[in-house]
Amino acid sequence: MALIRVEDLSFKYLGSEDYSLKGINLKVKKGEFLGILGASGSGKSTLCLTFNGIIPHSISGEFEGNVYVKGYNTKDTSVAELSTLVGLILQNPDSQLFNMTVEEEVAFGLENLGLDVEEIKRRIKWALKLAGLEGLENEFPPNLSGGQKQRLAIASVLAMKPEVLVLDEPTSQLDPLGREQVLSLVTLLNKEQGITTIMVEHNTDYLLNFADRVIVMDKGEIILEGKPRQVFEEVELLNRLGIKIPTSVKIGHRLKEKGCINRAALNEKEIVKELRRLLKKA
Ligand SMILES: Nc1ncnc2c1ncn2[C@@H]1O[C@H](COP(=O)(O)OP(=O)(O)O)[C@@H](O)[C@H]1O
Ligand SMILES: [Mg+2]
Repeated sequence: MALIRVEDLSFKYLGSEDYSLKGINLKVKKGEFLGILGASGSGKSTLCLTFNGIIPHSISGEFEGNVYVKGYNTKDTSVAELSTLVGLILQNPDSQLFNMTVEEEVAFGLENLGLDVEEIKRRIKWALKLAGLEGLENEFPPNLSGGQKQRLAIASVLAMKPEVLVLDEPTSQLDPLGREQVLSLVTLLNKEQGITTIMVEHNTDYLLNFADRVIVMDKGEIILEGKPRQVFEEVELLNRLGIKIPTSVKIGHRLKEKGCINRAALNEKEIVKELRRLLKKA
C-alpha cells in the first residue's frame, strides 16, 4: 500500500490567477526515496506543503482532489495529527529553530505529544545521536554551523518518529561541508533507518545515486517521472527546464552523442569504467 497517495490534486493560492498545482497524481511507497526536481516556481514547495496538511489547513485557496497519508485524508486530519506522520524540513534552518539549547529544541515538539519523561529523554538521545550532534546538548542553536543547524532541525522532526520525512531544498543555504553533512544524514535515515523520504534537491548527482524515483515538475504539473536512470537520460528536456545535469551524465551525454556509448545516465563509477574501456580501444 502507498504511504502517500495524491489523487488529481490541483491547488490555487487565494488571490492567484493560476493554479500552482495542476492534476497531480502520485504514490509514494513506504521506505521509498522520492526526489523532486523542477525550475523555480514549478510548484515543488507547494506540493511539499500538501503532504503535512499546511495546505489546505493553514494556507487557503482552491483545493481540488485528495492527499492521503497512511490512509488519512489530509482534508479531514489536523496539522497537529499530520505532524506526527510527516516531518517537514525547510530551506532555512534558522526559521525552524527557536529554543535556547539543542536539547530543548528536540524536546519541544515531544512535550506536546504527551509522552512520559523517560521516553522523551530516550528519543532526544536517539535523535541527536543519529544526527551526529551528541555532546552539543547544551549549545545555543544560533551558535551552531549551518550544517549542524539543519541537522538539528532534522533531529527535532525525527524525534517525533514520523513515517515520512519531507525535505524542501534542505542544503541550498549551506556551505559545502554543511551540505555534505546533511546529505549523508538523509542517506543514513533513508537507507539504514528505512524512513520514507521526499526531497526537493538541486544536487542531481546526489539524487542519481540515492533516489529510488524522481519526479520533474513544470508549471504545476509532473512532466516526467521514473527511476533516476530514466529521468536523467532526458538530458535535452532537463536542460530546457534549467535543471542541473549530474556531472557524470554530462560526460555520458557527450559520449552518447558521439556514438561511443548507448546510455548517458551513468554514475561516476560507471563513467570511469566506460572511459577506461574507450581508452583501451583507442
Ligand atoms: N503564498 C503564495 N501565494 C500566492 N502564490 C504563491 C504562494 N507561494 C507560491 N506561489 C506561487 O505558486 C507557484 C509555485 O511556487 P512554489 O511551489 O514555491 O514553486 P517552487 O518551490 O518549485 O519554486 C509560483 O508561481 C509561485 O509564485
Ligand atoms: Mg520551493
